[in-house]
Amino acid sequence: MRINYKDLEYRESLPKILHETPFVNVGLKYEDFLKQYTPAIIEKLSDDSNLKVMNQVDGKPIRSSLKDTAVCEPIVSFFEKEFGGERFMVHVNRSHVVDIPSNNTFDVDTSEIWISEFWHIDNVQRPVIGIGIYLTDVDDDSAPMTYEDPPENNFFAPIDNYTNWTQSRFLDFEPKNPVNITGPKHTTFLFVPNFLHKANYARKKQRDALYMRLAL
Ligand SMILES: [Fe+2]
Repeated sequence: MRINYKDLEYRESLPKILHETPFVNVGLKYEDFLKQYTPAIIEKLSDDSNLKVMNQVDGKPIRSSLKDTAVCEPIVSFFEKEFGGERFMVHVNRSHVVDIPSNNTFDVDTSEIWISEFWHIDNVQRPVIGIGIYLTDVDDDSAPMTYEDPPENNFFAPIDNYTNWTQSRFLDFEPKNPVNITGPKHTTFLFVPNFLHKANYARKKQRDALYMRLAL
């Protein structure tokens, strides 16, 4: 089922800030709140024993994730109140610096459902918003998130068909106008995860980020 972003019924289920476009970089709007809590998250990330390697290539980690995200509790609660949603997923990810020639030539292990570096939709079967918070400064070479602007390709796949993760990954897709979300530490962005987006590898600088999904 394709989502039409002009569909008022669909749009009105979202917080107002997402009524015009499904990807909004709100920059440092929440910095004053976030900065009291982010040092504790960074401290957790700095101990490898707290991390689970999610993807690797040639034995080197590409992405790791905090095993326990309890340290994010104040931030998650804050955003639940801010947008009237309920936590559905919370991840704290570290993108390690890797030198992989191209997202499309990377030899994909299809058991690795975690690979987000291809254009994809999250294929969530209910209205949710995604919130991303960068915990390090992020530029084009340090694993920004990318989206298609304006959004032209978006949909839910029917639940019954979601047995193969590649159905929500588009290995050769090239949008007309990809836009990277970049900004200093504490940059926050909101998005509708069923619109096409992708992660990127960190090429020059390690990148940490907190992602949450709130069910509306
Ligand atoms: Fe995603």
